[in-house]
Amino acid sequence: MKSNSQDAANIVWHPQLVTKKARNQSNGHKSMMIWFTGLSGSGKSTIANALQSELFKRGIQVYVLDGDNLRHGINTNLSFSMEDRKENIRRTAEVGKLFVDAGLVVLAALISPVEEERQRARSRFAEDEFLEVYVSCTLQECEKRDPKGLYKKARKGEIPQFTGIHQPYEEPKNPDICIDTTDRTVEQSMQIILPIILEKIAWKKGKQ
Ligand code: ADX
Repeated sequence: MKSNSQDAANIVWHPQLVTKKARNQSNGHKSMMIWFTGLSGSGKSTIANALQSELFKRGIQVYVLDGDNLRHGINTNLSFSMEDRKENIRRTAEVGKLFVDAGLVVLAALISPVEEERQRARSRFAEDEFLEVYVSCTLQECEKRDPKGLYKKARKGEIPQFTGIHQPYEEPKNPDICIDTTDRTVEQSMQIILPIILEKIAWKKGKQ
């Protein structure tokens, strides 16, 4: 499956006539990757979805790339080994990069437990096109919420390699945005994140 460098050397990038800039201008907002990381049950998908609704209402081209959903399709062959999580992150970053090129605001919600892999994802984007959002929540609270009953199963030994129990979650060292959801409602989290994102994606004439 690994591509060999000889093949890659013979593949030339074909530029598109409709550029990302033209798409952004036509949409009236910048496209970018907003990467949510955090433990299972921390609220990544919930916040990403609520944010998607708020942005969509405002006419913004937006799409959620949810780790669980991607694992039903493009990432269906991946397990939860550290190696496969790495590939999960890589593919999501690459798909997200295409979506950003297509003019969308992409909200990726993945546990993405390893700092180095998140940094690798960031490195695929321009500096002003990637925002890391750490959805922070104590393991104790995530386990209490346990919306899918997975922590319970993991504790019983029915799910191996569960993040936070058998495998580590590395907290982001320097996230662009941090939302602690331990004692916050989705609405309160939205009040923090929405204005920041609206400012980041604003299309400022003459400044792009
Ligand atoms: S990641 O670590 O590779 O980024 P991802 O976000 O795609 O994870 O998938 C995590 C989701 O898969 C969790 O929200 C949970 O619903 C489910 N899941 C199933 N098994 C595991 C496991 N061993 N560890 C973590 N999450 C799991």
